[in-house]
Amino acid sequence: METGRFITFEGGEGAGKTTQIRLLADYLLTKGIDPVLTKEPGGTEVGLELRKILCTGVEDKFDAVAEALLYYADRRIHMQNKVWPALKRGRWVLSDRFADSTMAYQYYGYDKRVKKELLDQLYAMTVGDFHPDLTIILDIEPAKGLARSLKRNSQAVEKEIRFESRELAFHENLRRGFLEIAETSPRYVVLNADKSVDELHRDIVNVIEERLLRNHA
Ligand code: TMP
Repeated sequence: METGRFITFEGGEGAGKTTQIRLLADYLLTKGIDPVLTKEPGGTEVGLELRKILCTGVEDKFDAVAEALLYYADRRIHMQNKVWPALKRGRWVLSDRFADSTMAYQYYGYDKRVKKELLDQLYAMTVGDFHPDLTIILDIEPAKGLARSLKRNSQAVEKEIRFESRELAFHENLRRGFLEIAETSPRYVVLNADKSVDELHRDIVNVIEERLLRNHA
């Protein structure tokens, strides 16, 4: 039996991941693939409670180590209850963020105050040898991404400003982090997200066709 594909989307604030995932899902449907759309944090019911703890409130309510532990708790529940079962059933899963976000935010973003080894250990303990088939990193200048993200948040009922309120330097570290992570494996593709929604969608479709659809039965 063929198993599904796990595709993760990463990037800083306001890079357009959520919109692009929805567009990609519509495109995949035209190819006869009905993907599961999910996100971290908050891909499960318990995860949504963790998301509220993580993304609302004041910035310094806990440190980066505590944050990493909570993200990994969310991830473990997400993998066990949703992602792995869906992949086993042959479904494609598109996730708005995954473990690279923990490395980028809690390690690079905080200027390496959390040990990289700790994050690697948490990954091994929680996810094991499993990795996404493809990770698309949407890259945008932090100032531009933050402006988009703050605009979206000003219209939201529940404000998730815990991270957007961090200073620009944090977001610049974050961007550098994602670019460094992308160098470590061919499973990463970095796309310039500073373009129109339609143009970026076309770039993403090209990557999916090249990497995953060409060999898909
Ligand atoms: P989102 O706004 O893209 O849904 O992401 C929620 C916030 O959580 C975003 O500011 C990034 C942050 N985050 C981390 O800091 N570490 C993680 O491991 C994940 C998955 C998200």
